[in-house]
Amino acid sequence: MHVPVLLKEVIDLLDPKEGEFIIDGTAGAGGHSREILKKVGESGKVALVDWDKRNIENLKKEFSGANAIFFNANYAELPGLIKDGNLPKADGLLLDLGFSSDQLAGSGRGFSFNPPAGGEPLLMTYGDESETLEEFLRRATFSELADIISRYGEERYARRIAEAIFSKKSAIRNTEDLAAVIRTAVPKSYERGRLHPATRTFQALRIYLNKELDNLKSVLDSLEEIIKPGGRVAIISFHSLEDRIVKSAFNESAKKGRLKILTKKPITASLEEVRNNPRARSAKLRAAALI
Ligand SMILES: C[S@@+](CC[C@H](N)C(=O)[O-])C[C@H]1O[C@@H](n2cnc3c(N)ncnc32)[C@H](O)[C@@H]1O
Repeated sequence: MHVPVLLKEVIDLLDPKEGEFIIDGTAGAGGHSREILKKVGESGKVALVDWDKRNIENLKKEFSGANAIFFNANYAELPGLIKDGNLPKADGLLLDLGFSSDQLAGSGRGFSFNPPAGGEPLLMTYGDESETLEEFLRRATFSELADIISRYGEERYARRIAEAIFSKKSAIRNTEDLAAVIRTAVPKSYERGRLHPATRTFQALRIYLNKELDNLKSVLDSLEEIIKPGGRVAIISFHSLEDRIVKSAFNESAKKGRLKILTKKPITASLEEVRNNPRARSAKLRAAALI
């Protein structure tokens, strides 16, 4: 069961009010949307967007009220969705980046390096239109692999891992095989046992296949097409690559007088929240209001 991260802090900053229109660009299991829907009430509206169609199917079952609308789409397409759907610009936009714990736990999408026995298919994609991991591995060169693992995973053993994956390509049939191959490529003392050896490589491949950083940059570039003046944007990121992009886009727009930053420093989870929900450990929340 997915537990929403920084829920109170998100609601405080996004500040959804009775009658407002809010977009949850990464609705997932609806943890944040549930609270937002309560705040906007019957006279308001929430657009629940998720790229993974299974999430949208589940959300439709739970949120059947007239004040919820659903989009199975990439949040990078929001400007087009608003125009084509004749929707107004929003009073608020939330992005809670990455994947949910439900997608990790046996969703069949291959996001987890701890999959059920037998592993999961080599997909790692939210939507069905993206190139899958299996397709990518078939065409990838050694240097492409090493570059992706180093750049998006910030993995110091990127070359060794890429070599292992490249040389055993044809024997890697599922995520269990992939995690095992990665384990053979790193020293036994990897991260002093604090991190699973496949963590960074899986993160890198997922970011690459779903173009996660490009999607984030694209939505940050088009905030004015999505949010009305005075509207708020709140973004939760889970690794430094994403947080850096959010921070510098907010700073640049603030310098141009386009938005006001509401979080001087990123907001992080309390010790108590991290104790109850370890996923919150690396979460960073930044928010801004459009001018
Ligand atoms: C961390 S979860 C969100 C959890 C949600 N806030 C909750 O409390 O239940 C991130 C969600 O974003 C979705 N996602 C990832 N990239 C996306 C994108 N580019 N566009 C739309 N949804 C995306 C994933 O499928 C996942 O369901």
